[in-house]
Parts: sequence; C-alpha cells; structure tokens
Amino acid sequence: MPEETTPFIKVEAVHRRFLIGGKQINALNGVSLTVERGEIVGFTGVSGAGKTTLLYVIGALDKPTSGRVLYDGRDVFAMSEKDLAAFRSRRVGFVFQSSNLLPEFTAEENVALAAMIAGENRRDAIRKADDLLNLVGLSGRRGHRPGELSGGEQQRVSIARALVNNPSLVLADEPTGNLDTVTGEEVFGLIRRLNQERGQTFVVVTHNLALAARMTRSLSMRDGGIVDKTADVLEFK
Ligand SMILES: Nc1ncnc2c1ncn2[C@@H]1O[C@H](COP(=O)(O)OP(=O)(O)O)[C@@H](O)[C@H]1O
Ligand SMILES: [Mg+2]
Repeated sequence: MPEETTPFIKVEAVHRRFLIGGKQINALNGVSLTVERGEIVGFTGVSGAGKTTLLYVIGALDKPTSGRVLYDGRDVFAMSEKDLAAFRSRRVGFVFQSSNLLPEFTAEENVALAAMIAGENRRDAIRKADDLLNLVGLSGRRGHRPGELSGGEQQRVSIARALVNNPSLVLADEPTGNLDTVTGEEVFGLIRRLNQERGQTFVVVTHNLALAARMTRSLSMRDGGIVDKTADVLEFK
C-alpha cells in the first residue's frame, strides 16, 4: 500500500452559517484546502468573501457549522475544551488587522502577557518578549505604549506577540492593511524571514495583490468559496 502523507492542515468541506435577524448568511460554503508546513499562503478577495471567517475557523477560534479542520490528522473541534484552549494559545499565533494591543501596557508587556497566558512564568515571558522585540527590530521601543508607536511598529509588536509561544502556524488578517507601502513591505519582509529562519507556516489575508503574488501560494475567495486553487505557485526570489 502506498504511504499516505498527512497534511499539516486539512480543511474539509467547511460551512459556516450565521443567522442574523432570521436571515441566513453563508459565510463559508464548503471550503476545502490543505496547507503544508513551511508554506506562506496568501488569501485575497473582496470584502465579505469569507476570508476572516476562514482564518478564524483554521485557527480554531470559530467552530464551523459543518465540516472539519485537521492538524496532522487530528480533528481540532473534536478536542476537549482544555486541549482546544492549549492548542489555540501554543500552536497558533494570530495577527489581527487592527493590532489589538492593550493600550495601558508597554510593547514588552503586551508580548510577555501572551506567554504568561500560555503558562510561562513572568521572568521567562519577559525574556522571550525582549528576544522577539529584538527580532522585529523594536528593542529600543520595548518600554513604549502602543499610542507612542507608529502603525508599522504596532503591527510588528503584534507579530512579536503572535510568535511568543513559538507557534507552528501564524494566521494574519490583513497585517499590512492600514500601513503605507514601505511599511507593508517591511512587515511582509519580516514574515518571509521568519518563515525561512524558523520554518513557521503563514496564512495571510491581504488586499495587496502584489504582495499576494509573492507568497508561496496565492488563493482567492469569493462568496464563501475558494475560486482559484491552482493559482500561482511562485518561487521566492
Ligand atoms: N459574527 C458574524 N455574524 C454574522 N455575520 C457574519 C459574522 N462574521 C462574518 N459574517 C458575515 O459573513 C460574511 C463573510 O465575512 P468575513 O469573513 O468577515 O469576510 P471578509 O473577511 O472576506 O471581508 C459577510 O457577509 C459577513 O457579514
Ligand atoms: Mg476580513
């Protein structure tokens, strides 16, 4: 019998429906997808296409109405609540469109808190936060609060926060969305470097078609489905 390889992530026939005022919205209409380790998958598509909903389902933040999401063959939504919480905080990192940093806390504290929530003691959490802020080029800003940082700097802090538990998968929802072109390039450059140096897998939603074209794979969504699964397997330059 030929040996079957288990994909890193397998999304199987996922539907996600919302009921709003008696009206049904089909945010995801039977999405199937596999992602292999080490990929940077880009998602584009108009507003309302289902991109954010799909990211939430892949990251196990939102349960599909039907269908499954498997990591290394394991059905995440069949896990106990406790295992699921551990999975979310340790294996998956999220970068949200608005950086979602806590305004009262410094950059260092914002990153360290995510490690402490995952069970790290304070000292090690701070050490990890400092290493990561260094990695994203912000060691000189660790005592700054979000309001004292530029948009690009805030987004780099939220990338550091997403990475602090060394997740194997990082999900990013328009991480360059409200950044200017140069800053967007910086953030994308960082994603690519992390992917190459740490082997982390990324799924990135972006409006920027030029950036999407430079991911290892670029997919497009429309009306809750993936419309272009075979597109553009590009090599890194
Ligand atoms: N929590 C929710 N409750 C109701 N409808 C939602 C919810 N989240 C998303 N939707 C709807 O699902 C569809 C897809 O939304 P979304 O995934 O946010 O699209 P995108 O990120 O591509 O803009 C939209 O019609 C949106 O209004
Ligand atoms: Mg969205």
